[in-house]
Amino acid sequence: MDDIGLFEAIYSQRQFVRYKPDPIPREAIEKILDAAVRAPNGGNRQPWEFIVVTDRELVRKIGEIYRDVWLGTFGPSSPPDESRVYRAARQLAHHMPDVPAMILACADHTAGSPPPKPGEPIVRNRYGSSIWLAVQNLFLAARALGLGTRLTTAHLRNEEPIKTLLGIPEHVETMALIPIGYPEGKFGATTRRSASEVTSYNRYGNRK
Ligand SMILES: Cc1cc2nc3c(=O)[nH]c(=O)nc-3n(C[C@H](O)[C@H](O)[C@H](O)COP(=O)(O)O)c2cc1C
Repeated sequence: MDDIGLFEAIYSQRQFVRYKPDPIPREAIEKILDAAVRAPNGGNRQPWEFIVVTDRELVRKIGEIYRDVWLGTFGPSSPPDESRVYRAARQLAHHMPDVPAMILACADHTAGSPPPKPGEPIVRNRYGSSIWLAVQNLFLAARALGLGTRLTTAHLRNEEPIKTLLGIPEHVETMALIPIGYPEGKFGATTRRSASEVTSYNRYGNRK
């Protein structure tokens, strides 16, 4: 697929909750992650680690952990007044064990500094901002290649079994669990407040 323009990617990069079962070519994954690691990051320490999960059994197990956490937190079935956003998230929770692939975006809390000594506390959340910039690059690159994604964090309520399944060491924290695949449904506009509603010039609240 030909690359699309940056603004077309930005304006049509909605989040997907259903994915076709088709596998993703390895070159596409490599291109997307090559875009991710171009992101600005604190002190150029590049604290990111990405774990691409394509093994069906692992996808299923991680997807089930995600599903159980999500349904355990937000309830096993839709309340009548469930918002569109939560209905979509619920759909993904059910579908997560069947997605074609996942990327776990992780933060290595020792990047750029010596590993912690035994018993030394690990400083959490120091690298979050660097990881998110890489994740947005990843999303836009995926969009450019016709691949859908969604940022999810619900698994953080039960991160340990996922870390154990994938052999992720203690000093590496999973920041986002990103399903990825050819989407069921079309790319398209998102519903957002306009920039003019949230932009001030020279003084807070001065919209003109
Ligand atoms: C920090 C963050 C955490 C999120 N966590 C989840 C999640 O755990 N599960 C989920 O289904 N969506 C999650 N989302 C996705 C949002 O719900 C989604 O971006 C929102 O519904 C807007 O979707 P749209 O971009 O298609 O309009 C998360 C998004 C962000 C930015």
